[in-house]
Amino acid sequence: MATILGIGIATIDIINEVSHYPAENDEVRALTRQRTRGGNATNTLTVLAALGHHCQWAGTLVDDGDGDFVRTDLQNAGVGYRHCNILPHGAMPTSYILLNRINGSRTIVHYRDLPEFDLQDTVNLPWHDYTWLHFEGRNVAQTRLMLAALRTRGYPGKISIEIEKSRDDIGVLYEYADLLIFSRQFALHQGFTTGPAFLSDIRARGSARGDLVCAWGETGAYGLDSHDSACCSPAYPPSRVIDTLGAGDVFNAGLIHGLLLQHSLATALGEACALAGKKCGQRGLRNLLAP
Ligand code: FRU
Repeated sequence: MATILGIGIATIDIINEVSHYPAENDEVRALTRQRTRGGNATNTLTVLAALGHHCQWAGTLVDDGDGDFVRTDLQNAGVGYRHCNILPHGAMPTSYILLNRINGSRTIVHYRDLPEFDLQDTVNLPWHDYTWLHFEGRNVAQTRLMLAALRTRGYPGKISIEIEKSRDDIGVLYEYADLLIFSRQFALHQGFTTGPAFLSDIRARGSARGDLVCAWGETGAYGLDSHDSACCSPAYPPSRVIDTLGAGDVFNAGLIHGLLLQHSLATALGEACALAGKKCGQRGLRNLLAP
């Protein structure tokens, strides 16, 4: 099994489950309320740890009760946080989430007021101890500096980058990735209405030379491997969609796991879709691998 380092965020997720999505200015009562640890990179790592990999998270943490909550949760999930920057002040990023009981949709209002993990925080990071690095495509300028430093040092492992949201200059990260994982939201924002057209365009721009993937929700996912062979997978929806929160993060874990097992991009894409589909049929990420 691999040693994997995820660079990104952990959040406090306050999940209010509602019977239906409310109208503006409505007042509704939540059916359930849950406080969990979330965040794309840490979600992906918890699934990769459950799949048997040795996982560490690098990001920023606050030295307070919320930070302790995050640490305890990661510990229970078998994800280490020894490379984190632990800050004496600040607040853990928090997501206020409406989970719709009817269709499992999750509407997120995210608030953050915490410095991002940056190059300075990586000075003593033993990158070479890891065989796979998974970055969230955020804090673009600093992430680029980290990636450039890795290249300068001849980092021999694999690098994946999740491109979920449109951010200024995010394209500068593409050239460093063995695997780029785009969201449908990102592709739509770029003006594309289909995954294959979007991925072809990314390739045509020239800098992205690795495997390219775009998840497309209930339609499945599309891939273009580094030899320009295109593939796709259908979605594997559960009989009832219960909770889509973190489904993309689970998809990323399934994809990375499949590629670590040396599966083809097409096979890994199918495995990722199956795992993400399974997630949508249950609350949270725990026991995802139970039969
Ligand atoms: C789900 C998630 C949540 C978190 C939010 C951050 O993908 O990671 O756990 O609150 O997205 O954007």
